[in-house]
Amino acid sequence: MTACPYAHAQAAQTPAVQPPDGAAQDRHGKAAKAQAEAHAFLRQFYAETGRTGLEARLRQWTLDPTLTHEELTFGARVAWRGSARCVGRLPWASLRVRDRRHVTAPDEVFSELVAHLREAWNGGRIRPTMTVFGPGVRIVNDQLIRYAGYTQPDGSLVGDPQNAALTAYLRRVGWAGGPGTRFDVLPLCVTVNGHPHLFEWPADAVQEVNITHPDCPAVGELGLRWHALPVISNMTLDVAGQKFHAAPFSGWYLETEIAARNLADQGRYDQLPAVARALGLDTTRRRSLWMDRALVELNVATLHSFDAAGVRISDHHGVTAQFAEFARQEAQAGRVVRGEWSWLIPPVSPATTPVWAATFDPQEVPPRFRRQRRAWLDDRADSGAS
Ligand code: ARG
Repeated sequence: MTACPYAHAQAAQTPAVQPPDGAAQDRHGKAAKAQAEAHAFLRQFYAETGRTGLEARLRQWTLDPTLTHEELTFGARVAWRGSARCVGRLPWASLRVRDRRHVTAPDEVFSELVAHLREAWNGGRIRPTMTVFGPGVRIVNDQLIRYAGYTQPDGSLVGDPQNAALTAYLRRVGWAGGPGTRFDVLPLCVTVNGHPHLFEWPADAVQEVNITHPDCPAVGELGLRWHALPVISNMTLDVAGQKFHAAPFSGWYLETEIAARNLADQGRYDQLPAVARALGLDTTRRRSLWMDRALVELNVATLHSFDAAGVRISDHHGVTAQFAEFARQEAQAGRVVRGEWSWLIPPVSPATTPVWAATFDPQEVPPRFRRQRRAWLDDRADSGAS
């Protein structure tokens, strides 16, 4: 990006007589950086898609720095392609981008999100989907679908402990609370110019799968379930130096996310002891490896349940083989494969997969996604309100 000649020309024009004050210098630096990033992105778009007319497009950008639908879509796909923590990137070019940059009214944002869930769900044949909203819009929930975590008076917790702060926040902005089960779907909070608006999902928009085991009915009796769509809504899409703060995106699940983390982690649903008991394992002896056996069987149950329900899900052997293919394709295209090893290896049997012995460059480059801070969800804000 620093190689962009236009940025240098701009910088050279700064009058040296009157040194600009700090703020002006800052503004100037930011504008030059944004210009350089925009030009770098447009060059990449024209080069990768084999288009002609780059010079005219660069000139036009100076008059109206608005991405075309095609450019935005390309930027989003490339951001996914370069996401160092995602092992499921092989289908990056299939991402469907719903360009809703003209949508900023809270009710319209919500109805577009409902449409996103339905289009992404696609009757179980889940399609990678993103919806991009206009300026001023933020989604408070870190994923569109989240289960409540209710802190009880005795300090214990019902539901997903990871969402305790979000649940408390939603109560503060007016949510009356749900029925109080372990799997209450939280309402969604959208802010527009900082003002919060709460919405309840229509029941048919949220698809869930009950977890049963192919040969152990007692596992099914634990009443575990998970939602079908992971829709990340707390990341900013950064394309051409422009930031889209409300750009939720969804793929489909990898079974280990649900079975080896969400339902298994001690800080989440902590279900391994219950699963081990359901399987009749000896939980009194560490060396029976009941924990490991329960973990594998919960993964078996999750794959079995999604498959039986006709809901798309990856398994860790399949997705890592696909990742190896993705890495091969990227290398062939002359691109650096970005990857954070500790995120790419699955939490179950990592050494059986091709990612185990591989190394990648963890540095992400634009266009990219960035995590947003959730200042209003920090621990102090949470305890202050309870
Ligand atoms: N790990 C997160 C969860 O369990 C979802 C992250 C995105 N995953 C995906 N398959 N697109 O909810």
